[in-house]
Amino acid sequence: MISRRNALLGGARLIGALAGGIVPGLGAGAASAATSAAGTTRRIPYGACVNFTPFLNEAEYRIAFETYCQQVTPEYGLFWGYLRPTRNQFVFDYADKVLAFADLNEMTMRGHTLVWYGAMPDWTKQIGSAAEAERELTLHIEKVVGRYRGRIKTWQVVNEPIDDVKDGAAGLRPSIWLQQLGPKYLDMAFRLAHQADPAAELLINEYDVECVGASYAARRQALLTLVRELLARGVPLHGVGLQGHIQGKYEIDDDGVSSFVSEIKSLGLSVHVTELDVIDKEFAGPITVRDAMVAGRAYDFLNAIFAAERPSAIGTWGITDRYTWVPTWNKRADGLANRPLPLDDHYRPKPLWSVIDYFCQKAP
Ligand code: XIL
Repeated sequence: MISRRNALLGGARLIGALAGGIVPGLGAGAASAATSAAGTTRRIPYGACVNFTPFLNEAEYRIAFETYCQQVTPEYGLFWGYLRPTRNQFVFDYADKVLAFADLNEMTMRGHTLVWYGAMPDWTKQIGSAAEAERELTLHIEKVVGRYRGRIKTWQVVNEPIDDVKDGAAGLRPSIWLQQLGPKYLDMAFRLAHQADPAAELLINEYDVECVGASYAARRQALLTLVRELLARGVPLHGVGLQGHIQGKYEIDDDGVSSFVSEIKSLGLSVHVTELDVIDKEFAGPITVRDAMVAGRAYDFLNAIFAAERPSAIGTWGITDRYTWVPTWNKRADGLANRPLPLDDHYRPKPLWSVIDYFCQKAP
């Protein structure tokens, strides 16, 4: 089974290479080999989320990951909504298959996510007490983190805990967990994950913290305050994931991002870019110009992070414009396709890929 699949992928990889889809030296194998002139700087791992449908059906899609990625994440295979369609069911097929693919190709799989207000199955609306919420959260984290103990080395434990800005400030985002357990749901989630896999790196993951504007500044501040509070309570939190769903219409707040990352670093935490894509809804002009604008925004974002700290990983939310969540909420008015990701819809690398590749190799 495995060798047949390798043969299949090998053949198709060659076709991809002939079609010009392969950038030499950037495959998964290149990661360990990439060192600086001094021989000490490891290439920053690049990864992307995997959509289950093309993953199962398209060799070209899988080859793109083999060619460019050192890390993968199931896009929605670890969401409660997918994993637990009913209270007593756990559906691990998606995550298991992506992990097997990662193992086969010497990549690591990241875990996204254990606690999120979104993508919750309907039955969780019946959770009606703190005790019940704690029971379900405990069962979920023990079972999911336990299953992948030692194999998923980085977990984005809590996703998007910061609410939208109201009256100039951002509190915690409403969810079944906040409603039933209060802010201690965060402590609980991290402690449970740590117990289930003491060696795993545990992150908090957040969006809309990178652009110019008062609401972005307020969200950065709220996230920093939350991180400090968690650490002060002894919660096993090891890093911060900046999703990086960049709203292309706004500029990157270079100083805001750099000083935020400096603060995180000074707290002894790692910084990861977890879901980079550039929302190009408002970008006008020919494709070449729009692609340059997408690359430019990502450059500014990564450059601002690098000014303070070399991130532990750079990940995009999808790898090809053919499969991206961006049009779900950000369709273009002119009816043209969004182009938020490093490869185009024919798997050809775009300027955004060059930007990512540049930063992955960049010495501290
Ligand atoms: C999105 C997925 O891409 C979609 O397939 C799913 O239907 C909804 O969630 N921030 C996150 C991701 O942390 O989990 C979201 O992914 C995109 C926004």
